[in-house]
Amino acid sequence: MTVRLSPSILAADFAALGAGVAAVEAGGADLIHVDIMDGHFVPNLTIGPPVVKALHARAQVPLDVHLMVTDPERFIDAFVDAGAAMISVHVEAATHLHRTIAHIKERGALAGAVVNPSTPVSALEDIARDLDFALVMSVNPGFGGQHFIPGSEAKVTRMRRLLDAVGNSAPVEVDGGVDTSNAARLVAAGADILVAGAAIFGTPDPAAATRALRAAALSLAEPAAAQPR
Ligand code: DX5
Ligand code: ZN
Repeated sequence: MTVRLSPSILAADFAALGAGVAAVEAGGADLIHVDIMDGHFVPNLTIGPPVVKALHARAQVPLDVHLMVTDPERFIDAFVDAGAAMISVHVEAATHLHRTIAHIKERGALAGAVVNPSTPVSALEDIARDLDFALVMSVNPGFGGQHFIPGSEAKVTRMRRLLDAVGNSAPVEVDGGVDTSNAARLVAAGADILVAGAAIFGTPDPAAATRALRAAALSLAEPAAAQPR
């Protein structure tokens, strides 16, 4: 059983993003999650392609760019050019989701679709076979540090089943309120990538918090994996 950790720099010190990235990489981060908010799809504004470009110059691991913007199609080229390795767009915000997913892939990035807490997994039914990953929001997007919405584990499992049903082994990512208390349950439910902001950058030692999150995430999985078959 493996899990990838994608620390969200939304909770980092924006005046010291390079140091934040280095800290979580030292703690074993697999990806860096970059939250892009437009003040329209979500009630908050964050950063754009120039900051992603600067992060790309510093980061050793791939950038996992989560677009919380209306009509994300408009920005795909700019974020790929800035160095995004993975780009996810919300099904609620993308009018022509199939075209947008195809565009991301044509540009050489991995394409993901995201569902809000109130959006059923079935909203991705007709795009599931085309996805490189699927992202389940476990908080309402827009802010870091919110409480995990109970029941999101079951939604992760439903997303895993949807992908499996179309023969797609693409990873399921989960984002929002992830911490050491729920990480193992999420992995058991089928999550392959855990995003965590406050649980990592809200601590005095983000490297140690990254290691602790991985240990917690694998705490249920490892004893089972060690069983003789
Ligand atoms: C929420 C963002 C998340 C957020 C996660 O709108 O998409 O990526 O940064 O932060 P935490 O882990 O603090 O909920
Ligand atoms: Zn996010």
